[in-house]
Amino acid sequence: VLAPRDIVRLEDAGIVLLDQTLLPGARVERTCASVDELIDAIRELAIRGAPALGVAGAMGVALAAATGPDEPAALRAYVANQAGRLADARPTAVNLRWGVEQALTVVEGAWRTAPELRGRLAGLAARIHADEVARCRAMGRHGAARLADGARIVTQCNTGALATGGYGSALGVVRALHEAGRAPHVWVPETRPLLQGARLTAWELAEDGIAHTLVTDNAVGALFAEGAVDAVLVGADRIAANGDAANKIGTYPLAVLARHHDVPFYVVAPSTTIDSDTPDGAGIVVEQRARAEVAGFGGVVTAPAATPCRNDAFDVTPAALITGIVTEDGVHEAPYVFVPASA
Ligand code: MRU
Repeated sequence: VLAPRDIVRLEDAGIVLLDQTLLPGARVERTCASVDELIDAIRELAIRGAPALGVAGAMGVALAAATGPDEPAALRAYVANQAGRLADARPTAVNLRWGVEQALTVVEGAWRTAPELRGRLAGLAARIHADEVARCRAMGRHGAARLADGARIVTQCNTGALATGGYGSALGVVRALHEAGRAPHVWVPETRPLLQGARLTAWELAEDGIAHTLVTDNAVGALFAEGAVDAVLVGADRIAANGDAANKIGTYPLAVLARHHDVPFYVVAPSTTIDSDTPDGAGIVVEQRARAEVAGFGGVVTAPAATPCRNDAFDVTPAALITGIVTEDGVHEAPYVFVPASA
């Protein structure tokens, strides 16, 4: 079982994170001694998942302060610049920007000395981390109340402890069911191109002894047709004000399948993932990733060199296909009225 500090923590040497690119083969920690190194780690998905990115964002601003000049005006300017670069490291998960902005309110507030600012930012980042884990536990309780014993659940990508800094969002609901002895079973789509399902979700479930079966992404329709799915539980990277939800590519087809087969489809995400400034899904920027992720597999090129590829990292599920959005406040249903997150 992963403790929150095993996933990411702030130390004097920098931000220490469990390198998710190497799982499940190796459990290796990676230290980011500068904001540049943290940005690289985020882009490579060494740390990933919306809430975990929010924690990394807040820690990253603390790291910027720790590595910046001592003179207050120069430090303020330095941290603001580094924070802007960090917030732009990946565009879709709103939590990253949220975490950075929470820390920036401290930078822009009243403080006198560099050590004072550094201490406050480290404290804020630790609190944001603890709060995210607490939100996950609350979501776990609310979501579990909607599911039957022995529920056969389809998920997508990884929404576990690795993705949230501890416990998990959609996978937190699964954990809550498991802890209560309610015997969930999880269908785990491998989640091409980067296999967060096969590498990370299957690993977390195996570590915790939770029943699961790995399937290829294109096998999921047959599971619905067979009547082998009782609910879909997914996370989100950004939820617009109207409830449209961006999540890992492949989530929208699950929502369409769920509607066709009359299976409930829940999005499980903390309030830090809600973007009230974006009215609907059309305003959500979807990250485009490298061609090589699609044109090859496991380091082997599988497509002709001249073949154009498209690699959207996320898709947007319209609110009309969502049964309910589980946040730490409870299960929301349309029309959505969300309580904004505060740090
Ligand atoms: O590209 P990733 O691995 O960062 O994508 C992550 C997801 O899509 C998750 O489902 C989402 O961030 C929710 S994590 C609780």
